[in-house]
Amino acid sequence: MRIAEFALERFFAQWEFAARHLLCASDIQGWPMADLLALADAETAALWQDLRLGYSEAPGHPLLRAEIATLYDTIDPDDVLVFAGAEEAIFCLSNVMLGPGDHAVVTWPGYQSLYEVGRAAGADVTLHELHESDGWALDPERLIASLRPGTRLVVVNAPHNPTGMLPSHAEWARLTGELAERGVHLLSDEVYRYLEFDEADRLGTGADAFPRGISLGVMSKSFALAGLRIGWLATRDRELLARCAGFKDYTTICSSVPSEILALIALRARDAVLARSRGIVAANLPLLDAFFDAHADRWCWVRPRGGSIGFPRLLDPEPAADFVARLVHAEGVLLLPGTVIGHDGNHVRIGFGREDLPVSLAGLERFMETG
Ligand SMILES: Cc1ncc(COP(=O)(O)O)c(C=O)c1O
Repeated sequence: MRIAEFALERFFAQWEFAARHLLCASDIQGWPMADLLALADAETAALWQDLRLGYSEAPGHPLLRAEIATLYDTIDPDDVLVFAGAEEAIFCLSNVMLGPGDHAVVTWPGYQSLYEVGRAAGADVTLHELHESDGWALDPERLIASLRPGTRLVVVNAPHNPTGMLPSHAEWARLTGELAERGVHLLSDEVYRYLEFDEADRLGTGADAFPRGISLGVMSKSFALAGLRIGWLATRDRELLARCAGFKDYTTICSSVPSEILALIALRARDAVLARSRGIVAANLPLLDAFFDAHADRWCWVRPRGGSIGFPRLLDPEPAADFVARLVHAEGVLLLPGTVIGHDGNHVRIGFGREDLPVSLAGLERFMETG
């Protein structure tokens, strides 16, 4: 398989551990191990204590799959397949579902593998472009109009990386209803689910919406445990899930045993885990609002509706990539130029899931005054 370079990952390979402050991270600040273990109940504490480091069950630890299933209304443990992160799930699903002659529609700009793996598998991929002038809103009618007889898969990520887009309940019902009627599968990338700024905006899951709906979840974002590398697919389409399981035999076979137990601990304690994530976002958002308010002459800011990332546009004549390079050298603060995700509108990705955001923002502020 020949696949285009994952530009975002190449950018992070250079900068993620070299910059002092990540102001463009897509995740929530990771949990310290000791704090997570303190959340264990008697059963999971014993599982951790007695852990044997052999292979685990290929579909995922039965208790973990059972716990993941409780995140949905219509999903049984056997409707869940555990992967090494959301990334592996995207890779397996795209390869299983898409090939030459197939068509897919994917929200864009976005996480590159959501469209790149399908392309590399030989499918024709239409990007459903979101526009800043529409507040980055998903347009269900335009998306539906782009479907073809050969459309096998629609991929929607919401809350969205990098814009924080979140469809309304009516828009979501329109899209999922139409896909159900046409028999088209939906991959609903819900890695930022539970981080809606207004809980009333939380959408029903893709897996619950209709039998060909597939939910993509992960411990990395809302659950603030990216280091576990635990993700999953949930769908009532067991035949599809079985094909994904068959493909996974050629990637990781099974997940990391310690990570599965740590994920189980976190999911059982999800009220506390999510409260911490929401607390970090809630503390940071007003600082961003104040910053963009004070600098409306230099930045255009469409406030996200959920998640922990936004996509503001630099109004300066300087290319955002140059601004980002000068900023990281001057202040050790890293933003991500939109060009790295293939978008040339002079935007940057800004992340607000890290506890050092006040320090990062002060560095950015200082740089804008002096630089
Ligand atoms: C929208 C989206 N989907 C999937 C992923 C992959 O998640 P992970 O790296 O935890 O596998 C990411 C990571 O940034 C993402 O932003």
